[in-house]
Amino acid sequence: MRLNEVLDVIFRWAHLVAGIMWIGNSMLWNWMDRNLEKATERGRLSQGKIFMVHSGAFYDVEKKLLEPGELPPMVHWFKWQNGFTWMTGIALLVVVYFMNGAAFLIDPSVAAIDPAVAISISLGSLFVGWIIYDGLWSSYGEQHPRVATALSIAMLFGSIFAFSQVFSGRAAYIQTGVLIGTLMTGNVWMCIVPSQRSLIAATKSGKEQDETLSIRAKQRSIHNNYFTFPLLFIMLSNHFPGAYSHHLNWLVLIAVMVGGAGVRHFMNTRYLGEGRQRPVAVWLAPAFGMGGIALAGLLVITRLGEVPIRKLDQPVPFARAQEIINKRCLPCHSVTPRDPAWPVAPNNVVFDLPLQIEIMAPRIYERSVKTKSMPLNNKTLMSLDERAELGNWIENGARLK
Ligand code: HEC
Repeated sequence: MRLNEVLDVIFRWAHLVAGIMWIGNSMLWNWMDRNLEKATERGRLSQGKIFMVHSGAFYDVEKKLLEPGELPPMVHWFKWQNGFTWMTGIALLVVVYFMNGAAFLIDPSVAAIDPAVAISISLGSLFVGWIIYDGLWSSYGEQHPRVATALSIAMLFGSIFAFSQVFSGRAAYIQTGVLIGTLMTGNVWMCIVPSQRSLIAATKSGKEQDETLSIRAKQRSIHNNYFTFPLLFIMLSNHFPGAYSHHLNWLVLIAVMVGGAGVRHFMNTRYLGEGRQRPVAVWLAPAFGMGGIALAGLLVITRLGEVPIRKLDQPVPFARAQEIINKRCLPCHSVTPRDPAWPVAPNNVVFDLPLQIEIMAPRIYERSVKTKSMPLNNKTLMSLDERAELGNWIENGARLK
């Protein structure tokens, strides 16, 4: 394995583990909060209790504030799960999208920009994104959350559209994910953790906690809650060229994000506390409805206005199809690739032998005729005529003779 790929493995693996710990934790906290049983007899500082069974014993957990001086010496914090998810995510962005001549970041058919420019836009948008978002919510948004929410959503959707106009489709999706992940991480480290610090300091000194910090932390954790499902889709999105390489890829992503956040919303409203739940019809049915919006994005929008593949009068023989593949695909998809960026055939997909081409015909059709996401960023300059010819051969049964 090349160093590049080994780094990819290390960071991706660590990213996944840290991400599972972070999001898993956060969903468990959310669930506990919503299922607390209020225990008024426990005094004004108690916010509720929950009784759980797991790993061979019972957990008797109480959420409460403390009297001054009651703080035990050991307090567990939950911030490094997020910290490591973000750091490994940025490392992965560098390894996969910035290195290798930014081959995955730039698609000349979208915008023929220089790698240095593309990388600067990618990193710059993270800084600018955080500054605008945090600025909005640290001042105006605290008093006017509805307007700030509408503005934030509009700006987020605007960024998705902008990313889709400068980066390859695949990178536009990931860039959106990195932006959201960066906002979430900023929320944790710049708002939620400081609020917890102030809570601890206030408890020690017996003073009231700073109200603004705690309101801010609450708002930001709600944002993070809604960001999770869309972000998880984006993390998986590079498996779905049908979505990211469509000419309306930005609209597809917006639909999936609205649907994902909507599902999260109705999961949030499921519990009423005290172990009570809303009727299934009130939360599960609308959750399915929101899932339907995401699905419609994937099923319907990806069918809109596809550039029709030109129909040919004459059936194209295999010899011609193979000639095209040899020229446009073999530089990467061969046992001995010629493209220095791919010393091993990507995804182990090779087209050296006629049988290999025949077996892969449906994927060849999907990637190079329908979605046109292959050749990668059209590095080998495949023409539309060649796509039509290859499509014709496959539509006529992909026969070798
Ligand atoms: C510049 C290198 C390069 C060229 C040229 C190239 N590919 Fe790919 N191909 C890749 C990379 C990288 C991947 C893995 C990432 C991905 O799936 O987007 C891949 C993955 C694939 C896959 C497997 C994933 C799937 O969706 O099934 C298929 C099939 C494929 N390419 C078809 C083609 C065809 C057909 C051509 C020629 C018309 C072609 N490729 C030309 C780099 C290339």
